[in-house]
Amino acid sequence: MRISVVGCGYLGAVHAAGMASLGHDVTGVDVDPAKVALLARGEAPFHEPGLPELLREQVDAGRLRFTTDPSEAADAEVHFIAVGTPQLPDADAADLRFVDAAIEALARHIAPGALVVGKSTVPVGTARRLLDRIRLAQPSASLAWNPEFLREGHAVRDTLAPDRVVYGVVAGERGERDAAILDGLYAGVLAGGMPRMVMDLETSELVKASANAFLATKISFINAMAEVCEATGGDVTMLADAIGFDARIGRRFLNSGLGFGGGCLPKDIRAFQARVEELGSGKSLRFLDEVDKINLRRRKRIARMTRELAGGTIAGRRVAVLGLAFKPDSDDVRDSPALGVASQLRAVGATVRAYDPQANANARRLAPDLDYRGSVLDAVEGAEVVVVATEWSEFRELDPASPELLAAVAHARVVDARNCLDRDAWRAAGWAYRAPGRPAEPDAVATSTSAGALLPALAFAG
Ligand code: UDX
Repeated sequence: MRISVVGCGYLGAVHAAGMASLGHDVTGVDVDPAKVALLARGEAPFHEPGLPELLREQVDAGRLRFTTDPSEAADAEVHFIAVGTPQLPDADAADLRFVDAAIEALARHIAPGALVVGKSTVPVGTARRLLDRIRLAQPSASLAWNPEFLREGHAVRDTLAPDRVVYGVVAGERGERDAAILDGLYAGVLAGGMPRMVMDLETSELVKASANAFLATKISFINAMAEVCEATGGDVTMLADAIGFDARIGRRFLNSGLGFGGGCLPKDIRAFQARVEELGSGKSLRFLDEVDKINLRRRKRIARMTRELAGGTIAGRRVAVLGLAFKPDSDDVRDSPALGVASQLRAVGATVRAYDPQANANARRLAPDLDYRGSVLDAVEGAEVVVVATEWSEFRELDPASPELLAAVAHARVVDARNCLDRDAWRAAGWAYRAPGRPAEPDAVATSTSAGALLPALAFAG
């Protein structure tokens, strides 16, 4: 089929390449000429494993092209909307200006009978409003919502082999036809018997919002348990393993540490609350406020732990922060807990040397005053504390007994902010080791709990 994908960011670029690999003829549309130029050469504008290969293959095969001109996609039978829905600068609600602009541009040239398919995460009720706008411009056109559940770092796999496919469609025959069009588009994906659910527009919007709310709640639950473990001397990693064996609970998304960040979970739980509040049912989601607060406390907790391990003061101390991306295998630093910790430490006077395998350039744009380094050894040179803030395999696989590493640091002290290192191996190699939710080792510097006194409440906004 001839399709267009409007918005070529983390979601749209992968979706466009994935659709082309299923044999469709795809035009990606984006307002950013630099991004379009890169994509048109088959190059990925961000780090996503497997994407450069897929892009090049599909561009070379002639099935995939990119443009800044929406009219070049006027003859498409299906238009996917994959633009961003960030948080408004001064409120919790989602900023729908990019979605609205995309629909306005489509309304100018959409062909009779065409189908618009929303993939962006939007507040419930948006799809029906957009449907009205599209029908005003082209009465025979239709709209469906097909939420995307892809994770950065696994985006190619999640696009081509998702764990379920959800279609929100209009009632009646047109809705049935729209579902059939989507079945045709995704035939290659659905072939393996993947669960596919057809529902009304509102439920499909809510599926995405509630999936992200649940994931965020699961992470904040285990981080709340980390706080309890710290107060009682328990070990949150053992606790997560033990409760995770219960199939009703499950071990995934129970990794305690620095909490969640990125372009989705933080802003999506805020937008969900804001929308439900607007609809008069605010108390139903008030617990998400607590989920958000628990999550933001993690960053302060790690900054405080770093100060404790440095001996009680951080001003003037040299700290190495390893990892800046919000998670490994991504260069995304939007609302990144790792970058938040680096910035908090810098704000209270530490000399921070930071290194991320992929995210240095993006981090520098948001936090230009950190000292960015090109390798682990460079970043840890003279460090009084090393903070592992993103669990890249490069850091997980570090040899704590490596003579180069031990010679580079001023003190062998590590904060394992993501609970991703082999604690026993690091301790055996002579490191003072601290991790959130786990007992402080006997040789760690005594802890002080009057945290807020030294650290300003600096919630990094990303
Ligand atoms: C998320 C959803 O998983 C995805 O389905 C949705 O489409 C978009 O939002 P993503 O933002 O790529 O995807 O990242 P995800 O893997 O969900 O991780 C989010 C954050 O939670 C990261 O900062 C990660 O480090 C953190 N996390 C994850 C934890 O702190 N603990 C965990 O156990 C899991």
